[in-house]
Amino acid sequence: MSLDYLSHFGLSADPFGKDIGDAELWMPPSKHFLVESLTDAMHARASALLTGEPGVGKTCVLRALRHALTPANFRLVYCQNATVGRRDFYRHLCIALGLAKVTTAGDLFLAVNSHVEDLAKERVCPVFLVDEAHLLHQDTLDHLHILLNYQWDQKPLLSLVLIGLPELDDRLRLRRNRSLYSRLHHRFAIGTLVPDDTSDYLRARLARVGATKDLFSVDALSMLHEAAGSSLRDTDRIATAALRSAALRKKKIVERDVLSRILQSDSEAHP
Ligand SMILES: Nc1ncnc2c1ncn2[C@@H]1O[C@H](COP(=O)(O)OP(=O)(O)OP(=O)(O)O)[C@@H](O)[C@H]1O
Ligand SMILES: [Mg+2]
Repeated sequence: MSLDYLSHFGLSADPFGKDIGDAELWMPPSKHFLVESLTDAMHARASALLTGEPGVGKTCVLRALRHALTPANFRLVYCQNATVGRRDFYRHLCIALGLAKVTTAGDLFLAVNSHVEDLAKERVCPVFLVDEAHLLHQDTLDHLHILLNYQWDQKPLLSLVLIGLPELDDRLRLRRNRSLYSRLHHRFAIGTLVPDDTSDYLRARLARVGATKDLFSVDALSMLHEAAGSSLRDTDRIATAALRSAALRKKKIVERDVLSRILQSDSEAHP
C-alpha cells in the first residue's frame, strides 16, 4: 500500500532510496570535478579535507571516490565513528587494516608502518577516510598528523581524508591543529545548490527508476528547492512525500498545491 505511488507513476523502485549504487550516483560537473580532484590527490598520496552542510552529499562523494579508486592500487579504510576515544580510534584503524590488535599508540605506529611498507612493495596505497570528523576528540586530532609523517616526513604514511561539517574547517584552523591542517593540502567544500541542481538531481534520480517525463511542475520544483536548501536528504524526504500525496489525489505530476500542503504539514511537525 505504502509503495502504491510507485506504480501510479510507473516507477520500478523507490527513487530516493539510500541504497543507490556507487556507479549510479548523481554526478553533475561540480561533483565530478570534486571526485576527480580527490582521486588525483589520492594518486599523489596526498591528504584532503572535505566539508559541507548536513545532507549536501559528502558521504556520497566518498562513495563515488571509492568507485573511482581501483582496489588493486588502493586499500580504503572507512571510519564513520569518529566519536570514540583515541585508543578505540587506533584500534579501529588496525582492525580495518587487518592488523593484529595493538594496545599502545607506539605499537600502533610500528604495526601501521610495517604494514604500509608491505603495501608499498605491492604498490598499494592506503587511504584512511574519517567521516563525521568534526566529532573527533581533540586528543585524536592532536596525534593524527603523525600518521602523515613517514620516512623522516619525506613521504606520507598514508592518505588521510577528513570529512565533516563546515565547523571542522574552523577547528582545524586553530593554532593547536596547525600541524595536521598544513598537511591537508587539498581542501574542498561542497557549496550550496542552485535551483537547477535540485531539478537536475530530481530528474536523474527519477529517471534511474523509469520516469520518462518530469514529475514536478516548475513551480513545485522551485518551492522544493527553497524548502530543502542544499540538503539532498531533505529533498529526498519532501519529494517522496509529495509523490505519495500526488498519487493519492490521482495527479499525473506534483504541482504547487500538493507541495504547499506537504511543506505546511512539515512546518507543523517541525515548528
Ligand atoms: N551524488 C548523489 N547521488 C545520489 N544521491 C545523493 C547524492 N548525494 C546525496 N544524495 C542523497 O542525499 C542523501 C544525503 O547525502 P549524504 O549522506 O552523502 O550527505 P552528507 O553530506 O554526508 O550528510 P551528513 O553531513 O548528514 O552526513 C543520500 O542518502 C542520498 O539519497
Ligand atoms: Mg555523511
